Amino acid sequence: MGAVRTRIGVLASGGGSNLEAILAAGLPVAVVVVDRPCGAVAVAEAAGVPAELVARRPDRLELTHAVVDALERHRVDLVVMAGYMTILDKPVFDTFGDRVLNTHPSLLPSFPGAHAVADALAAGVKVTGCTVHIATPEVDRGPILAQEAVPVLPGDTTESLHERIKAVEHRLYPDTIRRFLQDPA
Ligand code: GRF
Repeated sequence: MGAVRTRIGVLASGGGSNLEAILAAGLPVAVVVVDRPCGAVAVAEAAGVPAELVARRPDRLELTHAVVDALERHRVDLVVMAGYMTILDKPVFDTFGDRVLNTHPSLLPSFPGAHAVADALAAGVKVTGCTVHIATPEVDRGPILAQEAVPVLPGDTTESLHERIKAVEHRLYPDTIRRFLQDPA
């Protein structure tokens, strides 16, 4: 099985710079699903990829079913979370198994959660980084596929540090997705 036959569904909530990198790498993105209006929609549209808004709602199970439905309608067989800020429930893992990937802006298992960059700065670490891993129902856990370190520099703010981490993600995530498609084991 090569990358050619794969249909990737990207889940995003933010600016979409990782989506942009995935598209620029020529990976076969069939649909982008967002949980709120965000920059990723424009990135998808500019690339001619359909974008669907499946709005965040209090019932996480219902949201997960709606996301799975959108992914299945687009015949997705690999789910790639790229800055997706909603925690999905079990049905997405029941449907896609270990074919759900995530990128996280820290060296897991350090600094899981939604404030990874700020938490690393607050802890005073000198090195942080990013992690690409297989997503599991337990947030920011799951088998690690790739990691790369990013130094924390004097005077760094959350924004400046996150920008440098993202620059690494933009290379590491597409490369790791491609490798995963070639050899999922
Ligand atoms: C990335 O750093 C990702 O690891 C984190 O949110 C950021 C998303 O950025 N969860 P973008 O929307 O891809 O620009």
